[in-house]
Amino acid sequence: HKKFFSLAATYRSTIVGMIVAEIKSRTKIHKEDGDILASNFSVDIQIAYILSLRVVKEIRKHGIGSLLLETLKDHISTTAQDHCKAIYLHVLTTNNTAISFYENRDFKQHHYLPYYYSIHGVLKDGFTYVLYINGGHPPWTILYPFLLRDDIHKASSQDAFFFDEVMCDFFSGIYRQAHSLLCSFLPWSSISTKGGIEYSQTM
Ligand SMILES: CC(C)(COP(=O)(O)OP(=O)(O)OC[C@H]1O[C@@H](n2cnc3c(N)ncnc32)[C@H](O)[C@@H]1OP(=O)(O)O)[C@@H](O)C(=O)NCCC(=O)NCCS
Repeated sequence: HKKFFSLAATYRSTIVGMIVAEIKSRTKIHKEDGDILASNFSVDIQIAYILSLRVVKEIRKHGIGSLLLETLKDHISTTAQDHCKAIYLHVLTTNNTAISFYENRDFKQHHYLPYYYSIHGVLKDGFTYVLYINGGHPPWTILYPFLLRDDIHKASSQDAFFFDEVMCDFFSGIYRQAHSLLCSFLPWSSISTKGGIEYSQTM
């Protein structure tokens, strides 16, 4: 059963930022992210999925995004206590601002999802990012916990919210598609672009 958490930041009676997250059973994790948690965690374990986090452009880098994320974490620790083992989200591979924001807050890249988004009919690649909390962890692998897994899954496309900031430019899009195509022929070709993260193709 689903529970949603939403919080708006306001300034002079105007909404300037918002976070929306779904706190759900581990059985409701997206199929392509099914291995976020090790299978030994019980089905009662919960996981939070950030559906949206956005701050209006004019007042970014003033701490509002961090405040919204911290409030979600506080809410989880109050209501779900130690039953919630991870917070995860999807982000366009071209959204460098959001990627740095999450990486600077200890989120780790978990999956690369080729053609995950469909934005105005154009397919875009995504990443899954995860923050493990309360002892949560992914399935054990030979390399984990030293390195995180980065399996490539053939993801079903999903419509994305449209943000000006997340639309990549034309050449970047061409590059990504060519890169994904190259990866499907030469799985090892993405090792160098992923900073030594273990790579295995399950497409
Ligand atoms: C990602 C996003 C929500 C971050 O919101 P934000 O309000 O800018 O976030 P913060 O201000 O808390 O943090 C951003 C940076 O500004 C810095 N910062 C915060 N206050 C600051 C200040 N007073 N002076 C200078 N820098 C400051 C933070 O330290 C942070 O940098 P860091 O990551 O190196 O630590 C925002 O960029 C956004 O809305 N992007 C578009 C939507 C989007 O892509 N959402 C994510 C999709 S998954």
